[in-house]
Amino acid sequence: MPKKNGIRRIGLLTGGGDCPGLNAVIRGVTKPAEDYGMSVYGILDGFEGLVEGKAKELKNSDVSGILARGGTILGSSNKGDPFHWPVELNGKIEIQDKSDAAVQNYKTWGLDALIAIGGDGTMHIAHKLSHKGINVIGVPKTIDNDLDATDVTFGHDSAVFVVAEALDRLHTTASSHHRVIVVEVMGRYAGWIALHGGLSGGADIILIPEIPFSWDSVAEKIRERELKGKRFSLVCVAEGAKPIGGEIVAKGNDIKRTDPVQLGGIGEIVADKIAKMTGRETRVTVLGHLQRGGSPTPYDRILSTKFGAFAIDLVANKKFGKMVALKGNEIKSVKIEDAISKQKLVQLDDQAVFAARAVGISFGD
Ligand code: F6P
Repeated sequence: MPKKNGIRRIGLLTGGGDCPGLNAVIRGVTKPAEDYGMSVYGILDGFEGLVEGKAKELKNSDVSGILARGGTILGSSNKGDPFHWPVELNGKIEIQDKSDAAVQNYKTWGLDALIAIGGDGTMHIAHKLSHKGINVIGVPKTIDNDLDATDVTFGHDSAVFVVAEALDRLHTTASSHHRVIVVEVMGRYAGWIALHGGLSGGADIILIPEIPFSWDSVAEKIRERELKGKRFSLVCVAEGAKPIGGEIVAKGNDIKRTDPVQLGGIGEIVADKIAKMTGRETRVTVLGHLQRGGSPTPYDRILSTKFGAFAIDLVANKKFGKMVALKGNEIKSVKIEDAISKQKLVQLDDQAVFAARAVGISFGD
């Protein structure tokens, strides 16, 4: 029987971009809460709800049947950073600090702790709020898998599943029409989705931010395949990939977000260049938010449930300022400040890079 230790009410929010598995964590936190003698207050739309005072009590009945549901029943936002709050004044956006309002709502609601489920940005905010007296626990999510202190974030496996399935489908049509098909995937500044998705979906070329590519090398790989009788090729390109000496391609800039850069567009550029250099008919598929939507894979459902159950146990043991993490086969806790100190990028000696090269996949280098 879990111990009761005077912590009576905890807040729970999902911050940043959504991903499959968020609801499984919400369920993993809420279902055991009663046994710990705690009630759960679900804060709506991420930190936006903490600043604007939007929340509702979460009961067992609210989390029943949500394990397999994508998205988040609490809503999320990547524009609600209390320390970077956009306010429209005379037609212009001004950035203000609303963190005192966030702290005030935490107190008004009578919260003893806050569990923040999110990625890099959410962990940064949680860490800053801990300096203002809020007892925080972090739970790492993101399809990008770019948080350093955990072996993997939930949501990543589900996104990779979508990429693999897309590549499987594109394989048959590319081969029938003797085409090159370029698939642009998400991941921001990290190449994990392209690497794992490309490896599991049998891409011929994988382009990631960590390995700037040469146009000649990409074209050469396609020609080399043709010489072997393979008249089609699949190229999996991460949205943050760039050619040697080139820049990351962005499709927009939104100053309301902590990181204003909206990546996207490299797929089209890669396809155009390949068509010009090889003369092959080339098509592009941008997977976009398909990678974030839908039901979590069984792996993500299990990981999310373990993360949720571990997070509420950390609260019960008053181990604040910690983030839940997967280390090997064990769920552990790490200091949030350590988790945000470095982004997890693909290393050149990563075993997935080694395996990809071993089976003939080119990184365009
Ligand atoms: O961080 C998750 C992610 O899906 C990135 O891979 C992508 O660059 C970004 O979010 C897209 O954000 P938005 O949904 O705000 O366009």
